[in-house]
Amino acid sequence: MPVVWLTWGVLLISVAVIVIIAGLLGAAIWRRPGMPVVAGEKMALLPDEGGLRWLWLGVGLSTAVLLISVIWTVKVLADIQSPASRPGVIIEVTGRQWWWQVRYLSADGRGFYTANEIHIPVGEIVRLKLLGGDVIHSFWVPQLAGKMDAIPGQINETWIEASRPGTYQGQCTEYCGAEHSKMLFQVVAQPRAEFRAWWKRQLSSPSVPASVAANGEKSFVENCGGCHSVRGTEAAGSLGPDLSHLMQRRTLASGILPNEPSMLAKWIADPQGLKPGNLMPAVKLSQTERAGITAYLLALN
Ligand code: CUA
Repeated sequence: MPVVWLTWGVLLISVAVIVIIAGLLGAAIWRRPGMPVVAGEKMALLPDEGGLRWLWLGVGLSTAVLLISVIWTVKVLADIQSPASRPGVIIEVTGRQWWWQVRYLSADGRGFYTANEIHIPVGEIVRLKLLGGDVIHSFWVPQLAGKMDAIPGQINETWIEASRPGTYQGQCTEYCGAEHSKMLFQVVAQPRAEFRAWWKRQLSSPSVPASVAANGEKSFVENCGGCHSVRGTEAAGSLGPDLSHLMQRRTLASGILPNEPSMLAKWIADPQGLKPGNLMPAVKLSQTERAGITAYLLALN
């Protein structure tokens, strides 16, 4: 908000300055006494009618206005750097080729991982720690914050705050390889109670019906568990996104596909066709395994 006020304030000051100067210039041209110019004759100085006083007034006024603008700008910039109130939620976001790993940090050590969808409480300052998992990426949610690079071996801190509930689109804005343009994410701003409920759910293990787990969990752990993890199971890989509550997410494959059963099946069958070069291989699966794993994933709530 302070940025919006500053933008409008400085714009209004600039317009006022232009209007005043144009007005004064126009008046000076209009009121200029006509003087016949005689060739070869020296120009006589105009008698001083107190014009110098206007000059000092102009210099004084301009300096004052400029000073106010500078102080205002510097103050807003400083406020943006470090928000006054303490952040309630701290999230570590790691850019990877080509998705976003999101880790919620908690003072009691009960954090959790998710991916490509960052939930935040409305009206609260959320501190972000940005990291690069492989190469340099850049975190950008145009409606919430300016761009900030996510660099390997370095933590860049920034913060976001949503004044209204809603979904805000984010995008990687540093070229990071072939699928850079398919590295999207969403920030979902929710009222406090809703956010808390979401948080609690993320901390729990997914409740998969026993029949579905019996068919799919073992295949999932064997075929996918080396890279993906699901809370409460032996799947504990960290190369790919944590899938514990996959069905709670709106998109698949870092924002490029809607999270629908048909898309999920497509993604498992042909991840390289949809996002060439990404780390997920098309794992060779039997009919039974494929059906079991798909059903299992669709039960991860
Ligand atoms: Cu990540 Cu561009």
